[in-house]
Order: sequence, then C-alpha cells, then structure tokens
Amino acid sequence: MNEDYQDRWTAVDEYLTDLLIPSDPALEAALEDSDAAGLPAISVTPTQGKLLWLFARLIGAQKILELGTLGAYSTIWLARALPKDGRLITMEASPDHAKVAAANLQRAGLSDRIELRVGRGLDLLPVLATEGIAPFDLIFIDADKVNTPDYFVWALKLSRPGTLIITDNVIRKGAVADAKSKDANVAAMRRFFELLAKEKGVSATAIQTVGSKGYDGFAIAIVSG
Ligand code: SAH
Ligand code: DHB
Ligand code: MG
Repeated sequence: MNEDYQDRWTAVDEYLTDLLIPSDPALEAALEDSDAAGLPAISVTPTQGKLLWLFARLIGAQKILELGTLGAYSTIWLARALPKDGRLITMEASPDHAKVAAANLQRAGLSDRIELRVGRGLDLLPVLATEGIAPFDLIFIDADKVNTPDYFVWALKLSRPGTLIITDNVIRKGAVADAKSKDANVAAMRRFFELLAKEKGVSATAIQTVGSKGYDGFAIAIVSG
C-alpha cells in the first residue's frame, strides 16, 4: 500500500520544497558530497530540516545537542537557527561520516558554532555531562535506533525545564504499533515511548509523517521540570 503512495508523497515533498525552501548552496552541497562519499541517503528531508530549524527558532535555542550527524545535513539546518554566539554539539560514531560532515560544516561557515564529536553516543554522553555545558535548549536524537531509550534518558539529564527533545524515526512505517514485532529498532522505539509515557517530567506527542523518505515520524517532548 505504501508503495502505491510513495511517488505521490515524493511529488508533494518536491512541490513544497520548491515553494517553501529557498535554495541553500551549503545544504545542497552537503547532500551532494554525502552522496558522492557513499553515505546512505537517510538525512532528514528538506521539509523536515526546516521543521527542525523552525522549532529551534521558536524556542530561541542557543545550545543544541544532536546525536547522529551523518553528513551534517540536519546539523546545518539546526545551526542556521542559532544566534552568532550559539553552540551546537553533534555526535557521530563513524569516522567516515564525521569526515564528510566536518567538510560540509566548514563550507557552510558554521565550524565556529559547531563541535563535531566522533565516537559512540553512549561513550561520549557521560563525558559531556561532566563538562558543565548542559543544559541544552534543544536535543535532536537521530543516531542508532536501538539506543534511543538510553539517549532519551541522557537527554533528560542534559535538560532544563523547557528543553525540547525531538526524536526521529519513531514510527517505522507503522510497525511501532506492532507489539509482536521482532525488529530490534521497533522494539527500541516502543521502549522509548513507554519511557515517555511514564516519565512525569516531560509532556510529549508524536507525529506520523510521509514524504520522500516514506512513512515515519517524529516524537516531540518538552521537559516540564
Ligand atoms: N541526523 C542526520 C542523520 C543521521 S543518520 C541527518 O538527518 O542529516 C544516523 C547516524 O548515526 C549515522 O551517521 C550513524 O553512523 C550514526 N550512529 C550510529 N551509531 C551511533 C552511535 N552509537 N553513536 C553516535 N552515532 C551513531
Ligand atoms: C534511516 C532513516 C533515518 O532517518 C535514520 O536516522 C537512520 C536510518 C533509514 O531509513 O534507514
Ligand atoms: Mg533519522
């Protein structure tokens, strides 16, 4: 069923992107060079990237944390919303991805605001927690999916009341509603939603999305204290 609709979702994404998303050479070059370097085409879409930018603008984010950089496409979107003295830390496990990301950030002129840390999130987060940089205003969780519940627990530790925690890929073509799914990523997202549901310190929702990347969605949580 999804396959029948995919062409239409892609056409609508292209229609919206053409009208609403001004050409941005640094973002376009980041995708081109990621592709040329053989990185998987799994960045957020332009319409989703702009949603991330909008959220960051809405809350006046000055400190952003991202888990999962890939070629820094979402990183550039988020960093574009920062003030000049803003700061973004992004974590990436793959040195190959990080190398492409660093070049893309350099070209975007954002290297002064962005710190790319190479390593596994669960190794780097405990270190970050000792550095006195937190709390972050916005945290984007988009790394390996099985660790999403743990990333969420770390995100809470690195938050303040009002922090926005956005998590990508939580719907998984609808499989998230399947309690019997054998897919480890689906099971992880279900554990993540259980955490969200029982955590009294956050209010959350999730939005199903369709578009050029198919059927998936975001969870959006605000820390209430
Ligand atoms: N946020 C990016 C897409 C990230 S794709 C964008 O939308 O443009 C997920 C990334 O997480 C991949 O680059 C992958 O290498 C990285 N990753 C996988 N396991 C990780 C881990 N344990 N810690 C940090 N990053 C990880
Ligand atoms: C995939 C998509 C993502 O947005 C991501 O962060 C990781 C993987 C995927 O479609 O495989
Ligand atoms: Mg993602």
